[in-house]
Amino acid sequence: MDKNIITLVTGGNRGMGLEIVRELAKAGQTVILGSRHLSNGQEAAEKLADEGIIVDVVALDVNNEESVAKAAKEIADQYGYLTSLINNAGAVFDFRQKPSEIDLKDVRKDFEVNYFGLISVTRSMVPLLKKSSNAKIINVSSMMGSKTEALNPESEVYHAVAVGYQSAKAAANMYTVQLAKEFKKENLPITVNAIDPGIVATEFGGAAPEQVTAMGGKPVAFGVARTVELATDFDNKATATFSNTHGVVAW
Ligand SMILES: NC(=O)c1ccc[n+]([C@@H]2O[C@H](COP(=O)([O-])OP(=O)(O)OC[C@H]3O[C@@H](n4cnc5c(N)ncnc54)[C@H](OP(=O)(O)O)[C@@H]3O)[C@@H](O)[C@H]2O)c1
Repeated sequence: MDKNIITLVTGGNRGMGLEIVRELAKAGQTVILGSRHLSNGQEAAEKLADEGIIVDVVALDVNNEESVAKAAKEIADQYGYLTSLINNAGAVFDFRQKPSEIDLKDVRKDFEVNYFGLISVTRSMVPLLKKSSNAKIINVSSMMGSKTEALNPESEVYHAVAVGYQSAKAAANMYTVQLAKEFKKENLPITVNAIDPGIVATEFGGAAPEQVTAMGGKPVAFGVARTVELATDFDNKATATFSNTHGVVAW
């Protein structure tokens, strides 16, 4: 793996994003840690530096188009291209609300970060990805966005209800498919895939990681494994897939 692989990770300051940054930098890639608040990103990068891992940091609020455009310009000025974009930033704002009564404000917030934000960052980074001869977009989705799994009584997400978040991830899945098809049709060497990390012990949704672990949540290293695998395998030209560490996830 070499330093010419330039990877941007959104939401890279904590949780799974930070672990993806750590592992890809350890694998030899040049990693740009995107962080909504620059100071949080710099703090995270300092911790990595203490481990001997050097990464670049860029301020990137996926909900703020100005911030996204500025980040794209900074990357263009410093590197001139991007090899991989990992759309990891995400959040959930609705919890166990009845779909018939759900608060629209929460649904809008779910879509702002998990769907519109993902599209905003992707649109701004595509010109840089097009400058790479073998590029990747990896969208950190969730099995929670799978309608097949939501209808499967055997599924670990069957009883989960966060319909705003789930819908936003389902929408991001469709964006993944359509963007992959666009690039394929145009013979562009950019793969676009979605991954499901599983239920992972982070602070996601304001949770305490220990509590998530007690409820069967997996360690962060497990959660990022599929993303890291895809992000380091440049022979894999599969596009429009949805997968986790166990294999294919139904859309
Ligand atoms: N944990 C799970 O069980 C699980 C399961 C399935 C899928 N996922 C997905 O995995 C991804 C990572 O989640 P996680 O578990 O690592 O959660 P986390 O620990 O809560 O981290 C979320 C990250 O997203 C960032 N973020 C949120 N809003 C943002 C915005 N507007 N602009 C830029 N960054 C923003 C956060 O930044 P701040 O520090 O500034 O808030 C943070 O860096 C998410 O897409 C999530 O939907 C998680």
